[in-house]
Amino acid sequence: MAETVQVPNYAYGLGLLAFPLGLFVYSKVFPSHAKKINRKFTAWMCSKMMPRVHAKCIPQKKALFQSFDLLYDSKPLEVLEIGVGPGSNLDFLPAGCNLSCLEPNLENQPYVEQALKDCPDVHFSRFVKGFAEDMREFDDNTFDAVILTFTLCSVRHLQKALSEIKRVLKSGGLFFFMEHVAAPRNSGHRRVQETLDWVWPVVVDGCHLARESWSFVEQTGFTSVKLEHFRIKMLPFLSYGLYGYGVK
Ligand SMILES: C[S@@+](CC[C@H](N)C(=O)[O-])C[C@H]1O[C@@H](n2cnc3c(N)ncnc32)[C@H](O)[C@@H]1O
Repeated sequence: MAETVQVPNYAYGLGLLAFPLGLFVYSKVFPSHAKKINRKFTAWMCSKMMPRVHAKCIPQKKALFQSFDLLYDSKPLEVLEIGVGPGSNLDFLPAGCNLSCLEPNLENQPYVEQALKDCPDVHFSRFVKGFAEDMREFDDNTFDAVILTFTLCSVRHLQKALSEIKRVLKSGGLFFFMEHVAAPRNSGHRRVQETLDWVWPVVVDGCHLARESWSFVEQTGFTSVKLEHFRIKMLPFLSYGLYGYGVK
């Protein structure tokens, strides 16, 4: 009988650090091929890492997505997930909803298609290549819910992304978010985050450690915002979590 080989967590960490260095050298010699490899590697890495992160946030995800109940009037629900990655939230979508996905890295699509096979009650609408900051493919007031998890740390222009999210939501629609965020100001963990932030985004696909994402959400002009801070059982500088929703 074949033995299952368990890849230890530190092996993913080492891969994460060693790969960009090799890629940097390679990218100077074969730029377009290197970009393609990078996209494939990033999607694969995301498909390995993100389920582990989400597994540590199950109670918070249950509490968060319970608020889909607030949308009882609209059936079937139109849902957009931005930066969908490998499709870590599909299990939590309400039965019968129509799902659109927005993702800059199309190498994630096969992972989403695979995950959708386990969610037959979710109707897949379309997978669009694009960034949260510019969602011109979607009309105003299109979605009942927009979901974005562990992605605000990576978007380049938080304010633009959030105002685009508000634009594509219907009136009364919900913006669900879950993120790792900045530690309290002047804490030791915050100093570690700010120091690592010089190199972390280069190594981890644009991810920033010390973002106070909650203040951007609060300033977007949602009718109401509910948010909770929590701790995620991860490395201390990654352990500051935030989840909640905004109502348009
Ligand atoms: C850390 S992964 C999280 C994936 C997924 N949301 C999850 O929780 O498992 C971040 C994702 O955001 C995407 N992303 C990065 N910048 C983005 C942007 N500006 N707009 C939309 N998605 C973006 C990446 O391609 C990646 O799939």
